[in-house]
Amino acid sequence: MNVEHHVDLAAYTTFGVSARASTVVTVTTTDELREALLNYPQARLMGGGSNILVTQDVDVPVIRIASKGIVVVSEADEFVLVEVQAGELWHDLVTWAVDHDYGGLENLALIPGTVGAAPMQNIGAYGVEQNLVFHSLTALDVADGSSRTFTGSDCEFGYRSSVFKTTLRGRYAIATVTYRLTKPPHNLHTGYADVAARLQGHEQPTLRDVYNAVVSIRRAKLPDPKVVGNAGSFFKNPVIDVSTFQALLAEHPTLPSYLINQEQVKVPAAWLIDHAGWKGYREGSVGVHHNQALVLVNHGGGSGREVLQLSKKIQRSVEEKYGILLEPEVNLW
Ligand code: EPU
Repeated sequence: MNVEHHVDLAAYTTFGVSARASTVVTVTTTDELREALLNYPQARLMGGGSNILVTQDVDVPVIRIASKGIVVVSEADEFVLVEVQAGELWHDLVTWAVDHDYGGLENLALIPGTVGAAPMQNIGAYGVEQNLVFHSLTALDVADGSSRTFTGSDCEFGYRSSVFKTTLRGRYAIATVTYRLTKPPHNLHTGYADVAARLQGHEQPTLRDVYNAVVSIRRAKLPDPKVVGNAGSFFKNPVIDVSTFQALLAEHPTLPSYLINQEQVKVPAAWLIDHAGWKGYREGSVGVHHNQALVLVNHGGGSGREVLQLSKKIQRSVEEKYGILLEPEVNLW
């Protein structure tokens, strides 16, 4: 394992905001992860740093999980089980799967971050969430380093949520994740409007067509963290009850929505923020992305506090205009 002191976290998070960490421990195997958990009992865990906004210096040690490896552990006629180390980059896994003609991850191309963080917040995009192909994971108990296997139902996956964000928050470090990927013929998810539009003209889209469509949509709409600091969607899409939604719709007839069940409707936070006038807004070095109002950005040299303050202004403005309190999707440190 590699131990560094007095580290600027700007290089380790996609928001790229400066903040000092007293100690950063980078581990590249599960054994190193266990050792680090035992040696640094108060540590915080970090993967690709793509869903974190650091708002102040960090005095507790940070363990960066950078273990790599993708292995087919079993194979049947219709599917393969693929075990992936937590520190593997998510997009590298998606690309590997498409290269091998294994299906299920293609809609999740280009999501920044590591594989270990994917189940934690049940990442999703373009009509698919990772729990659709999730098989199981192994995680280490941060208290004693013991290993435990979690099935899909143990993880209690929800919209950008799992047991690791709720009842077991801070209790486990995810070490490996196993996905159950399909062999051809694949069941492609092409219904999401943006994806369907890109696939027009493809009679029978392939896995790679869907992957390419998602990559080009994301490139067009979302800022590349290597160029402009960001952590993807800053807020979750709010889920509201049908009666509240009906009242809102009467006032804002173009408000898009997705019915979740008989009682609940999800509305796009991007639309609310955009129609409250924030899209493309800039305040010093931080702002709201000009193509996607749900993405807050650091144009360079911005601080975590400035981003946080901007997010609070947006929250207040959306609450005043629509009566909805937006909840951050990124983790605040
Ligand atoms: N919209 C606006 N203004 C904007 C952007 C979007 O009015 O500036 C409207 C769009 O017209 C559309 C709706 O908002 O009707 C939804 O927009 P989009 O399809 O871009 O998706 P989203 O709800 O903003 C979610 C995820 C993204 C994911 C996309 C695609 C959340 C919090 N975000 O965004 O995930 O890539 O769907 O599936 O669920 C992330 O989690 O970091 C992330 C980027």
